[in-house]
Amino acid sequence: MTQGSDIREVLGLGDAFAGYELDATRIDQQGWNSTHEFFRNVIAVAKPGLIIELGVWKGMSAIHMAGVMKSLKLQGQVLAIDTWLGSSNHLSTAGRRAELSPRHGYPTVYETFLANVVKAGHQDMIVPLAMDGASAAIALGRMKVKAQVIHIDASHEYAPCLTDLRAYWPLLADDGILLADDYGTWPSVSRAVCTFAAEVDRPVFASMTKAIIPKSPNMGFTMTFKEPARYKRTALNQT
Ligand SMILES: C[S@@+](CC[C@H](N)C(=O)[O-])C[C@H]1O[C@@H](n2cnc3c(N)ncnc32)[C@H](O)[C@@H]1O
Repeated sequence: MTQGSDIREVLGLGDAFAGYELDATRIDQQGWNSTHEFFRNVIAVAKPGLIIELGVWKGMSAIHMAGVMKSLKLQGQVLAIDTWLGSSNHLSTAGRRAELSPRHGYPTVYETFLANVVKAGHQDMIVPLAMDGASAAIALGRMKVKAQVIHIDASHEYAPCLTDLRAYWPLLADDGILLADDYGTWPSVSRAVCTFAAEVDRPVFASMTKAIIPKSPNMGFTMTFKEPARYKRTALNQT
C-alpha cells in the first residue's frame, strides 16, 4: 500500500463510520503504552502508506498513530484489526469480564472504539476490521496487502503472541518495521518477541514496553539512554 491509496477499496470494505452518530456516553480513552515515543520515531522513518494494528481495544494507539501521520503530513491509513471480544484475561482474571461492557452477554467495546475515533476526528484514516487476527492475516496475505508498519498488541500469552508475530511478518514490506507492545514488562511477550527475532535472524531494538524489529537486515536504530524516570511496574494481567 502506497501513500494515498485506500485500503477500504483494496479489501472491498465499506466506510464503517458512514451514518455513525457519535455516542458520547461511550467515550472512554483507556489504553496502555498507546502514545509510546517509538510510534512517532518509527512512523517518521517508515513513512507508511499503511499501518496494520493487531489489537486495537478502545482505539488509543490507532488514534495516536493516525495523529502522528497527520502531523507528519503523511496520507497513510491504519487498518485496525480486532475481534473486540477481549483477551484470555477477560475471562481468567476475576472481575475483568465487565470491562467488555457486555450487552446480553456479548461485548460492546467496539462502540467505544467508534466513539473515540470520531471524537478524535480520525475516521478518515482508521479502518476497522472486526476479525480474529489469524484469519485476517491469511486473508490479507492472499490479497497481497503489505504494510510499512505493523503493531502487534493482541494476545499477551506466549504461544498466541508468537503465532501473531509469525503470521504478520510476511505482511510487512521489505523496508517495513514491526512494533510489539509490552516487551520488557510481560515475560510471555518478551519471550515470544525474542524467540521470533531469533527465528527470522533480526535484532530487537527495545525500550520499556515496546520492541522494534525491522524487516530489513540493514536497518538498525540507536537507542538514546535517558535519566531513569520513576517507573511503576504495572501488575501482570492488567492489559
Ligand atoms: C491490549 S489490547 C490492545 C490495546 C491497544 N493497542 C491500545 O494501545 O490501547 C488487546 C486487544 O487484542 C484483542 N485481541 C486479542 N486476541 C485477539 C485475536 N486473536 N484476534 C484479534 N484481536 C484479538 C482484544 O480484543 C483486545 O482488544
